[in-house]
Amino acid sequence: MATNNKKGGALDRARLREAVPRLLSWYAAVKKPLPWRLSPTAYHVWISEIMLQQTRISAAIPYYERFLRALPDVKVLAEVDEEVLMKLWEGLGYYSRARNLKKAAVRVMTEHGGELPRTAHELRELDGIGPYTAGAIASIAFGQPSAAVDGNVLRVISRLTALEDDVMSAATRGKVTEALEEVYPSGEDAGNLTQALMELGENVCIPNGEAKCDACPLAELCLAKRQGRQDDLPVKTPPKPRRIEKRTVLLLKCGDQYALAQREKKGLLAGLWEFPNTDGHLDASGALEAARALGASPLSASPVGDALHVFSHVEWHMIGYLVECDRLPAALAHATPDVIRTEYAIPKAFRAYLAKI
Ligand code: ADE
Repeated sequence: MATNNKKGGALDRARLREAVPRLLSWYAAVKKPLPWRLSPTAYHVWISEIMLQQTRISAAIPYYERFLRALPDVKVLAEVDEEVLMKLWEGLGYYSRARNLKKAAVRVMTEHGGELPRTAHELRELDGIGPYTAGAIASIAFGQPSAAVDGNVLRVISRLTALEDDVMSAATRGKVTEALEEVYPSGEDAGNLTQALMELGENVCIPNGEAKCDACPLAELCLAKRQGRQDDLPVKTPPKPRRIEKRTVLLLKCGDQYALAQREKKGLLAGLWEFPNTDGHLDASGALEAARALGASPLSASPVGDALHVFSHVEWHMIGYLVECDRLPAALAHATPDVIRTEYAIPKAFRAYLAKI
């Protein structure tokens, strides 16, 4: 097949094939003893990969260790109480990912005899397991020649082969996966190659004009480097701008108790707990009125500062008031700051206000 890395052309298999042993030797030298690598069972790889989609390795480690202590295997995960699960995930964001872990665990128990399936194809049937996670579990835990292609891997491969295709498109992801799988080893090296590609993209072949080509095991092979184009690749269509929502957060206080509301069962931050909040930026009298509308008897409202939280598609631009009340709304939960911190799953979006109580 003609090799042409121009937009829409075939990917350079020979260059990929040559890259594999270099990546494996490099990874053997730099590999760190991360907790999920000590015993890379499918369950361990699964939980760690879902967490690593949310946060950096150093931040994921304490979450991972606490999660595994509470929920050491698929059976316990399948039976976990929703509130306990949300509390274990608190601060990681994308809580639907945690809910999907439990849904998938239930299916593993009922449909797969308690063992995660061994192929990427079967793994993808489970809730919350997409092509990346399926490839990671199949290669790292089961030694299958399955690639796990995320943004880091797309950057590495785009630069290595001077690929001109838009890496934001699913078609490019499919094309890179297919080409990689033609050169993938089996057995332990499958998992090593998956993690080598990820780590190279995380630590060496990094974005924003900071690629560390001097430390790269693929420098001699890399077409982007040869052409001086490492900062221009990958080709990426810019994401749509995020919607901006103004919100007013009310810390309704009576004695040592604060009011909490539970979010809707569907949508953003579904089912988590929050301080009552409303659309728009209210002034102090608007905040008193909003507190009354919720069923409180407010006495005074004083500003407690601004906060910004950025989700993938929305930004919340928040202002907040401490509203001293004679009575808190009967329809809301009430708790002391200590109980709120230890027993309620409060999303990170409210962290600035949690710090005010
Ligand atoms: N990033 C996501 N998963 C990873 C893994 N298993 N090893 C290194 N970096 C990663």
